[in-house]
Amino acid sequence: MAERFGGYQNEIYLQGLAGTTPALSTDLTALEESAAAVLTPEALGYVAGGAGAGATMRANREAFDRWKIVPRMLTGATDRDLTTTLFGAELPAPVLLAPVGVQSIVHPDGELATARAAAGMGLPMILSTASTRTIEQVAEANGDGPRWFQLYWPNDQDVTASILERAHKAGYTTLVVTLDTWSLAWRPRDLDRAYLPFIRNEGTAIAMSDPAFRARLAKTPEDDAATAILQWVGMFTGTDHSWDQLVVLRELWDGPIVLKGIQHVDDARRAADAGMNGVVVSNHGGRQVDGALGALEALPGIAQAVGDQLEVLFDSGVRTGSDVIKALALGAKAVLLGRPFVYGLALGGEDGVRHVLRSLLADLDLTLALAGHRTAAALTPSALVRG
Ligand SMILES: Cc1cc2nc3c(=O)[nH]c(=O)nc-3n(C[C@H](O)[C@H](O)[C@H](O)COP(=O)(O)O)c2cc1C
Repeated sequence: MAERFGGYQNEIYLQGLAGTTPALSTDLTALEESAAAVLTPEALGYVAGGAGAGATMRANREAFDRWKIVPRMLTGATDRDLTTTLFGAELPAPVLLAPVGVQSIVHPDGELATARAAAGMGLPMILSTASTRTIEQVAEANGDGPRWFQLYWPNDQDVTASILERAHKAGYTTLVVTLDTWSLAWRPRDLDRAYLPFIRNEGTAIAMSDPAFRARLAKTPEDDAATAILQWVGMFTGTDHSWDQLVVLRELWDGPIVLKGIQHVDDARRAADAGMNGVVVSNHGGRQVDGALGALEALPGIAQAVGDQLEVLFDSGVRTGSDVIKALALGAKAVLLGRPFVYGLALGGEDGVRHVLRSLLADLDLTLALAGHRTAAALTPSALVRG
């Protein structure tokens, strides 16, 4: 039988009888404010901030607000089944942990805590190229959990090949290639503090531990960190790639490939033409192009155009169970959760991430039921109206 995620609600109320309340809010939109009290201004700005004036971050939330759920009654939604299948693997719910770099700036356990919490829930963690732990360390913490690897595509093919080989060996099954961040956007909250984690050697663990990258250096990173860091930053940012180069990644990766950062129907079609297996409709949480469309606005057209050829995933602005329902109804097969789990990590390490995931899934389960639906897969646009 499928797991009853809504049971977290009873668990919390019953703990109340013993005088206990949740350590972190169950309102995931409130966590940024709580995290502000424990994070350095630099770390908070890096996580919460976006490109330019923040218009795209606002657009992401406004796009969700424009769609309304229309609840249906007496549909027999007592027993729900949130399971879904992605690339042949069954997931307990249509939720993955988005790739988020430099997690040590919010909690000393960083990606290891996230990997443990994700594994405990059976939800895929997508490890960022900008991790503060190595590919192998995170795999060990993740154990038998499902894990995917996100690539910031280096402009050096040997280094790319080496990183992908390590990820494959360490049990990461699916490759997510992020296309929207080949160069860093204008991010005033970071610029005003002259704060970029990478040049402080945060989020460089994968490169610094990579044999092909190290072979490029005149001196080891241990002997000359500054030169190594600058070389790596120049390798993974600053170079745009082209559609015809995807064939190289196809040769280097023997498994599903998902392109992240797709916002135009034609780009989604090109992904299908290039033999890719999925896309993440995403604007990187409004961190790249200020004044861009809300990611959810792009979803229905893309799902309609390529949903029968590719797995269509979604992120940017997902905060509640109802957000997940809206994204699924508009054609996403699953969503990636971003900032909320990072705030959970900041506030409570592994337990904090687990609380955020359990809260989201409980909210999803209960809202799905009360809207009159039994499975996530049964959601179609007819579950919504545009208001
Ligand atoms: C602090 C932070 C770091 C991120 N690092 C990465 C990364 O290394 N690779 C990547 O593909 N996306 C990265 N993202 C983008 C997320 O994967 C995801 O697209 C975004 O968080 C979705 O927006 P939301 O968190 O507002 O829902 C990062 C996002 C944040 C907030």
